[in-house]
Amino acid sequence: MADSSRIVLITGASRGLGERLALHFAQKGYDLILTARSEEKLKSVAEAASAFGVRAVAIPVDLRSPSSLRDLANRLAGERIEVDILLHNAADVTSKPFLETELEEIDSLVRTNVIGMLQLTRLLAPSLARHRKGIVIMISSLAGYKTNPSQTVYSISKAAVNAAADALAAELGPQGIHVMKVALPTIGESPGAVPFEQYTRRLDRAIARRESEVFLTFSSAWLMRLYRAFPSLKRLL
Ligand SMILES: NC(=O)c1ccc[n+]([C@@H]2O[C@H](COP(=O)([O-])OP(=O)(O)OC[C@H]3O[C@@H](n4cnc5c(N)ncnc54)[C@H](OP(=O)(O)O)[C@@H]3O)[C@@H](O)[C@H]2O)c1
Repeated sequence: MADSSRIVLITGASRGLGERLALHFAQKGYDLILTARSEEKLKSVAEAASAFGVRAVAIPVDLRSPSSLRDLANRLAGERIEVDILLHNAADVTSKPFLETELEEIDSLVRTNVIGMLQLTRLLAPSLARHRKGIVIMISSLAGYKTNPSQTVYSISKAAVNAAADALAAELGPQGIHVMKVALPTIGESPGAVPFEQYTRRLDRAIARRESEVFLTFSSAWLMRLYRAFPSLKRLL
């Protein structure tokens, strides 16, 4: 195993990249806590992960509900489960023109992508700090660096994830919690997308080296750094 950590909690593990991350970490020998809203799908992911000989527990959670998050934290505490890696993968990835977005949709997306993610971090941070080797991974997007006009609310939420990662890294770092943000481009098999295997290879390396800001390609790393240094370039490039 590349890392000595043993238990990873993955949000949004019922489908998509979260499901594939669950199988990836299981293959590497990590025990898993898998969360999302869809209980049946989570259970089948947990079953598939268990085939690698690890313990995989499916716990339904709605990130928009503080009581659901408290139930999760209480259950982990009750079963004396201490998470080593908290992997914030879940997101509402809705793409919609801003003027067609309902107020409730804005509320739901921000609650899922930002508020729930912060609340879950708040609930689990004391346990992560106790063993002083905890890692919080926040899955962001290139859209959080350069706003995508067809994904305005989503882009704003990922910019907030980036800000949260920086702020929490500064505050929680001295308490032994490493906070990392991962800026994903499109992942998959479509032209121009980054293959999932390249994502997990890069993620494994970032965990082993305790990196703070992770890009998957050399070009995206430099372009996003250029945007940060010269924000007006975003209007030109
Ligand atoms: N796929 C890409 O190419 C890409 C590119 C850039 C960034 N990303 C980022 O990578 C992550 C995964 O993306 P994805 O494409 O795999 O997304 P996805 O297929 O839409 O899956 C999203 C996951 O989040 C869970 N989720 C959504 N709302 C939730 C809520 N209120 N409470 C709890 N769980 C909730 C969903 O499960 P339930 O519906 O069962 O709750 C699902 O498991 C996201 O953070 C996304 O922003 C992905």
